Formats: sequence, structure tokens, C-alpha cells
Amino acid sequence: MEKVPEIKIKLTDVTERLDEGYLLLSKLREEAGAPVVKARLLNKEVIAVYGKDAAKKFYDPRNFKREGAMPKLVLKTLFGEDGVQTLDGKSHEKRKTIFMDLMTPKRMEDYHRILDRTLTKRMDQEHGEFQLFDVAKDVLFRSICEWSGIDLTQMSQTEIDHLAEYQISMISSAVTNPKTHVKGIENRKKSEKWAQSLIEEARTHPVAGKEEVALYAFASATDDEGELLPIDVAAVELLNVIRPTVALTVWIALMGHALFSRPDIYQRLHAEFDQLQDSFIQEMRRYYPFFPMLPAFAVQDVEIDGYLIPKDSWVVLDLYGTNHDERTIETPEVFRISRYLGKEKHISYDEEYEMIAQGGGKFEAMHRCAGEWITLHALRVFSDQLVNKYQFTVPEQDWEIPLNQFPTFPKSKAVLVKK
Ligand code: HEM
Repeated sequence: MEKVPEIKIKLTDVTERLDEGYLLLSKLREEAGAPVVKARLLNKEVIAVYGKDAAKKFYDPRNFKREGAMPKLVLKTLFGEDGVQTLDGKSHEKRKTIFMDLMTPKRMEDYHRILDRTLTKRMDQEHGEFQLFDVAKDVLFRSICEWSGIDLTQMSQTEIDHLAEYQISMISSAVTNPKTHVKGIENRKKSEKWAQSLIEEARTHPVAGKEEVALYAFASATDDEGELLPIDVAAVELLNVIRPTVALTVWIALMGHALFSRPDIYQRLHAEFDQLQDSFIQEMRRYYPFFPMLPAFAVQDVEIDGYLIPKDSWVVLDLYGTNHDERTIETPEVFRISRYLGKEKHISYDEEYEMIAQGGGKFEAMHRCAGEWITLHALRVFSDQLVNKYQFTVPEQDWEIPLNQFPTFPKSKAVLVKK
């Protein structure tokens, strides 16, 4: 590697600055006047990098590994322990293949159809005022369970509401106050117990020909030695499909913000829906904050933006900052519905590093989100129904999206009145 300068900037203690939220890392870069910054976080030194070139290096397994990089408090709520996010190398590839094998074009059509039907049923029942957030949570949970082979027909609406709420709670409790965090740990335990009983049942009563259905795929999945995955790990992986799909609730509420907090985006999308739908969705994923950053350890000295990241450094890749990087994205603070027009075929393609709301790199070999196609289908179904199928009035409400909470969405949770 070429000789590169040591990072010269002073170390900033950010323990007291966490409420700066999604903007914290960009503020640190601004204060330091440098693209690479170093901070003290959770009693450890961390180097923060951002941008397309940094992402490319971050995803290269010769440079960075994930093992041990994610803080325990995130594993105990958001991800669960021993899941695919924590693996590296061959173990990761074997486990990730189980996820990617579920995402065939036929199974994506199935998901689209199930979600479209479930959302239509729910919207037809809505009369008057409702929160888009609440509708999305219920519909997304029911649909992903059906798609995954999980039968909810024997459950009461209250039980379903609780399970759906646990999925959101696992996310919102990852980085927050201690009380909410403890609640999130409890809710993960309850969810894991539910998922474990499903895996056990599927192992006791296997169904032939269901290899492409998540519940059965994880029930019969094996580890590196060819042994069935321990039940708790199989359950964590099943939840790695259910939880993030329910997390799309957040993007649906943000879609509500894009469409209904101002008139122009809705009007253009309504007028040119077929041409603009995928560009709108891609711009939504880029523009709004969701997953803020990802951690890893440098496995060798790495050069990023002219700075030396020494081997063994704890490093975070700033996802939000990369999606708003002026070096590669023109006027990143403006929501441009046509930004990705003509680039649709690049949406969700292998080796993405510029728009990395769901991570980057290659799907199979790297840690890039396994759920990008589910996400795209979900956002397509919701945008179609919200713009073309139903009509709404928009009551006065608080559309503010606080940038100091994770995940974030409009304070009002997007209230609409069905006409
Ligand atoms: C990984 C974001 C939806 C399953 C990730 C990562 C991010 C992310 C940032 C980490 C990438 C990395 O570590 O490099 C999102 C967002 C979503 C979403 C913002 C929309 C709300 C989904 C859905 C699924 C899913 C619908 C359903 C299958 C996963 C899995 C991983 C992952 C299994 C781990 C991949 C690995 O470690 O190899 N996602 N995701 N996600 N996502 Fe998603």
C-alpha cells in the first residue's frame, strides 16, 4: 500500500452528542474539515468513513470483517445473536445463500400478490381517519408471515398486534434510553420463543416441496458441519426475514411524508406513475434516513480518502452520509423524483456502493441486505395503492421527522382520511 498520512484530527468524545443523531457524523466531518474522522463512542475509539469509494473498500473482505464489530446492545435487540449479520467468509456465504435462495422471481411475485391482496382488504375496511404507520405494520406483518409459511389463522387480532409490535420494538430499542432497551430485549425474547416454536413444529411436520418457503428453509438449514442449525439460530434467521419486513412500516410512513406533506411529489407521480414509480422509490430510499451506519474491524491497513486506517481499527461506514454525499450526488438535500429516471435497471443491482440505504456490495458474498427485492415490491404495492387506487384528504398534523431518533418517521405517523 502507498504511504498515506496518519489521521491528524483530534479525537472527539461524542458520548454527550448522540442526540445529534443522523447528522452527527457529517457535523464531525465539518468540524474537522476532513472526510475521515475519529471519535470516542461507547468507551471505544471509532473511525468514521463515508462515500462511494469508502463503501467499496468497506465491503471488501480483504479489508474489513464483521465478527465482533456490532455492539452487544444492538445484537440483543435488533439483530439477535449468531445470525447471518455476525458471520464472515465461508460461514457467511453458506448462511446468506439460504436467504438469497428464497428471493426467486416467482417468490417475489408471490409476495407482491399477497401484499397487494392484504393491503386492499385492509384499505377497503378503513373508513375515515387512520394512521398509515399502523395500517402498514399490520399489513406487512400478516403478508410476510403468509409468504414465509406461517399460519396466523388461529391467532386473535390482539396476539397478531403484539407480535407485529415486537418486531418494531426490536428495532426502536437498539439505540435508545435504558428502559426502552430493556423492553426491546424482552420483546426479542418473546419473538424468538414464537419463532422457535414455529421451527420446532416445521421440523416435526416437514412439508415436501416447500424449500423456497422461509419457515421450512430455515427449519431444514444446516451449519458448516452439515448439522441442522440449532433451533435458536434458525429462529433468529426466520426473524431476520420477518422483523426487517415489518420495519418497512417506517418507510411507508416516510412515503406518506413524501406524498402527502407537500403537493408536488404526489401530483407528478400521479400524472406519470408508470415512468416515475421506481425512480420515486429509489429516491425515497436515498433521501430519508433509516439505517444510520454499519460497523466493522479493519483486518489490514486500509487507505480511505487519503487517510490511513490502521489494522484492527473499529470503523463505521456512514450510510446516511453516503446517501447524501455531495461528491457523488448532485443536490443531495433535494428530493428529486426523477433523479433515477432511466437508471431503473440499476436499482438493486449487484455491486452498488453509491446509494447504500440497505448496504452495498454483492448480495451473496457480502453483507448487503437480503431483502432489497421484498422492499422494492412492498414500496411498489403501497405507492400504487396510495396514489392510484384510493383517494385521501390530509388532516393537519405534525410532519416533523426528528433526526435524533432511530428509526425515524413523521411524528404524526402519517394520518390520512380515506375519501
Ligand atoms: C442487512 C437495511 C429490509 C433482510 C441489512 C443491512 C442494512 C439493511 C443496512 C446491513 C448491510 C450490511 O451489513 O452491510 C434494510 C432496510 C430495510 C431492509 C433499510 C427496509 C426497511 C429488509 C428486508 C429483509 C431484510 C425486507 C427481508 C429478508 C436482511 C438480512 C440482512 C440485512 C437478512 C443481513 C445480510 C448479511 O449480513 O449478509 N439490511 N433492510 N432486510 N437485511 Fe435488510
